[in-house]
Amino acid sequence: MKVVPTGGALGAEIQGVDLTNGLDDETVAHIRQALLDYCVIYFRDQGLSEEDQIRFTNYFGQAVEHVRKQRERKNKEIFLISNVKENGEEIGALGSHEVSFHSDLSYLKHPGTISTLYAVEIPSMGGGTQWCNCYAAYEALDQNVKDQLKGLRAVHRHYVEEQNPPGLIDHPVVRTHPETGQKSLYVGPHLTKYVVGMDRDESDDLLHMIYEHVNKSEFVWTHQWQLGDLVMWDNRPTMHRREPFPDTERRLMKRTQVFNADDVPFE
Ligand code: SIN
Repeated sequence: MKVVPTGGALGAEIQGVDLTNGLDDETVAHIRQALLDYCVIYFRDQGLSEEDQIRFTNYFGQAVEHVRKQRERKNKEIFLISNVKENGEEIGALGSHEVSFHSDLSYLKHPGTISTLYAVEIPSMGGGTQWCNCYAAYEALDQNVKDQLKGLRAVHRHYVEEQNPPGLIDHPVVRTHPETGQKSLYVGPHLTKYVVGMDRDESDDLLHMIYEHVNKSEFVWTHQWQLGDLVMWDNRPTMHRREPFPDTERRLMKRTQVFNADDVPFE
């Protein structure tokens, strides 16, 4: 197995691993370390069944059904992200529009830890996914801004109301990764609503300043999808966003999510 860094803000390609096979403990440990080091890793040219993708996900925790319900299917752990329509209805989530920066499931008490996305159909243009290195973005802040963020918490909420748990969920604006011990920014425009205890204008100004900062090209890397790519990312120190693509084209991705009951963001 070879780990080839992208040379960008984060990310590495893992070469020489066939995910249609079961993996030994040593290989899984190397992949886990690459994920901790590079935050996003990808494997090209994989011909994965849903069972292969679920088995691979389960090496890193428990693959669980997504909180958003999708139609009856063989493997509940597989969540479809797609603009494809069957009988006039989209078979998956997120259509073809742009999706702004977010960390998966941050509107839950136990947000997403590790996610995977497998490319089954891709459009001829657009639809790239960009990840932001939120460790690097935090590190690059001036010390006075870091001091200002200390102790702050922000409310996260999904725009589809039924996807939210009862009550308001808030998390630290700066979180510490439970395994690496490094701090990262943990707010994004798609799901973060406001900073707790600030008036709305002050909160909007602060969040806007952070969003401008994380948008800088030195913190962002774009994955240009190829068929058969399996991308795995750690949501704790990253955010991601999806570029739009023409709705006249088809894009079908299969997603899995690891649930970790011990993982509640802490500062
Ligand atoms: C997402 O925002 O989770 C979807 C990413 C993608 O469709 O590439």
